[in-house]
Amino acid sequence: MPSPTSPSAGYVTDVAYLPGYYPFMAPARMRYVASLQGIRPPAVREGFDFLELGCGFGSTLLTLAAANPQGRFTGVDFMPVHTDHIAREVAATGLRNVRVLCADFANMPADLPAFDFIALHGVFSWVSPELRACVLEIIRRHLKPDGIVEVTYNCMPGWSSLLPHWTVFHAAEVLAMFGSIGLGHAGRLPYHHNHWELCAKPHFAGQFQGADLATVETLKDHHANVMFRWDLFSRRQREAWTPRQRAEAAGDLFFRIALPQASLPHTVTYGGVTAGIAGPPHDRMLEAMGHSSWSLPMLLDEPQLAEFTAESLVEAVDAGVAMGLFRVDGGPAIDPVPPVETIATASLAVPLEFNRRALERKDLANEQVGLASLRTGAGHEIGDLHAVILDELVTGGRGGIEQRIADRLARTEKHLREHTTGRPITDPAERAKAVGAICGGFFATVLPELVRQGIAVWDRDQAVGKAL
Ligand SMILES: C[S@@+](CC[C@H](N)C(=O)[O-])C[C@H]1O[C@@H](n2cnc3c(N)ncnc32)[C@H](O)[C@@H]1O
Repeated sequence: MPSPTSPSAGYVTDVAYLPGYYPFMAPARMRYVASLQGIRPPAVREGFDFLELGCGFGSTLLTLAAANPQGRFTGVDFMPVHTDHIAREVAATGLRNVRVLCADFANMPADLPAFDFIALHGVFSWVSPELRACVLEIIRRHLKPDGIVEVTYNCMPGWSSLLPHWTVFHAAEVLAMFGSIGLGHAGRLPYHHNHWELCAKPHFAGQFQGADLATVETLKDHHANVMFRWDLFSRRQREAWTPRQRAEAAGDLFFRIALPQASLPHTVTYGGVTAGIAGPPHDRMLEAMGHSSWSLPMLLDEPQLAEFTAESLVEAVDAGVAMGLFRVDGGPAIDPVPPVETIATASLAVPLEFNRRALERKDLANEQVGLASLRTGAGHEIGDLHAVILDELVTGGRGGIEQRIADRLARTEKHLREHTTGRPITDPAERAKAVGAICGGFFATVLPELVRQGIAVWDRDQAVGKAL
């Protein structure tokens, strides 16, 4: 623990955190959730300002900056080891839309602009009450009128058996803290937490009817025994939109089938709640949407879906997102992608410098590799072995790739391990077979998604401009 007079007073510095790309911080996800709650999300197409308070090594900040060249990204952290690392990455990747500040929340630079998005992940529960007050003051001063704040924290009741430890909040306490600076609740992530029916069994419907927001949030947390919350806040009032108004407010978000092999009935289990999607209009939506991206206005105007009301279509999209049938992107993916044999044998390129660096740098460190997609405005994570395959494919082509991967593994003295036993695979023939299977998986599922997101471009689309 730091001493009370050290610069990090009030922040626990002796516990490592896991750096990585956090998908919930993508503007498209925040904007979707806000629109779901009747809150008009900030416009992003012409540019936007994004602040991350306590950005650590900046994995998320940098990935989002690479994926959203029209956005301006600011990261603040008081540990020079973090901010120096970010500054080096900015220089190496040529990102021109990142500003990194080595500063304490208690003493921020005077020239900070106003922001459309302010995110703080892994901060709120881990700083002193005084620093929390500083954070709230930064938000009060620097959030644009229609901006969104995203805050994560350890919460009750999930933490009750682990107390006393860290600072743990009831959702209602955090709602009150943000209320004190004029911000109201604007929804939460993961998506299903916005729907009480996916947090509590139907039997408890009566508890939710007519309950105020703080009670609803508390009840959902108790039913689902939540221990960590991702909350959004905004100054905007919730609006009672018609489905058409909702579609227009979220008109630049795109929805597509989350997994190419998705089929109905689609069933999910969240904690003690099992729910599903079957029949109309989802069956017809899956048919009509095929494997391409659709905005809400496109869906409402689709002649093949004219028999359904706008309300039922919007509800169906929201249910599909909440239950993982559909994914939300900040722009349309490329679909359909060419057959995998065509992609695999064509020459492939990874246009973004940020992504090329990510591929080169990660050599089987047993970490996920975060890549940026200009199409979705978000990051996309792949396993490090898949990153190595992509790197080999781009630099050396398809021919003999299995052998090249096996050689690279042998060179780095990293071993594949058998799934069930964890036994290292050292025998060359066995390794070749395992590499063949991993490459097979890469070509069947990972590569098509990379092409869909424009992270890897195939053949004729090799220029960055054409990847857009
Ligand atoms: C748990 S890390 C989260 C990092 C990043 N947001 C992520 O999700 O990967 C919290 C970060 O907040 C920073 N931090 C804590 N107190 C701070 C303060 N008073 N001023 C500035 N940064 C602070 C720490 O240095 C650390 O990098």
